[in-house]
Amino acid sequence: MRELVYYVAVSIDGYIADAHGGFDAFLVEGDHAEVVFGEYADALPVQAHTALGIEPPGTRFDTVLMGWNTLTPALDIGITSPYPHLRQYVATTHPREHDPAITLTTDPLATVRDLKREDGLGIWLCGGGRLAGTLLPEIDRLVLKRNPVVLGSGVPLFGGLPQPARPFALTDVRRFASGVVIEEYAAPRR
Ligand SMILES: NC(=O)c1ccc[n+]([C@@H]2O[C@H](COP(=O)([O-])OP(=O)(O)OC[C@H]3O[C@@H](n4cnc5c(N)ncnc54)[C@H](OP(=O)(O)O)[C@@H]3O)[C@@H](O)[C@H]2O)c1
Repeated sequence: MRELVYYVAVSIDGYIADAHGGFDAFLVEGDHAEVVFGEYADALPVQAHTALGIEPPGTRFDTVLMGWNTLTPALDIGITSPYPHLRQYVATTHPREHDPAITLTTDPLATVRDLKREDGLGIWLCGGGRLAGTLLPEIDRLVLKRNPVVLGSGVPLFGGLPQPARPFALTDVRRFASGVVIEEYAAPRR
């Protein structure tokens, strides 16, 4: 069965963006970039592929899910379909004008369960925190790019609403000279 993978940059203290929704504090350059631009190039937006002159490899993910607030910064710069190489699902409770390449969902849990029944590559949970909080019961793998910064406040990794505890097993830790640590966790098999 295909996996739902929450692959996300996070601070030491568990925030995926600062209190203003920005993530300038997260490191783009450094030796960890080899993983971001190599292994995880499927999770780069179209403007990054264009700037780097690379094609998405199409080896890790074929689908992305994001919350409406995560799509908004792309819309603000005129990009209505940030991941055209992936099937794009955006969670919202509102009817919204959207690019035809995007499918809106008002029930992301049901959407993920349906997608998991199909054949294909991994399903990337892009974020943000609120959507990740909803989808926590369906997450199969966490890949956290832990950046060496304390933000103190901001957007929590799982949105900050109370959740029942869910144990994960640590499966890999990669430390980089940049100070970034990539941690991987697997959900227990059902
Ligand atoms: N560090 C990283 O790698 C990373 C990755 C992704 C995002 N981010 C950051 O995270 C922030 C956004 O996170 P966020 O937690 O504020 O928001 P979010 O999860 O991206 O979006 C929240 C919105 O998505 C919709 N939504 C979420 N759960 C839903 C559900 N169960 N059913 C239906 N709709 C649902 C709702 O949209 P409506 O209000 O339209 O109903 C909700 O207001 C941004 O600052 C973004 O830049 C960081």
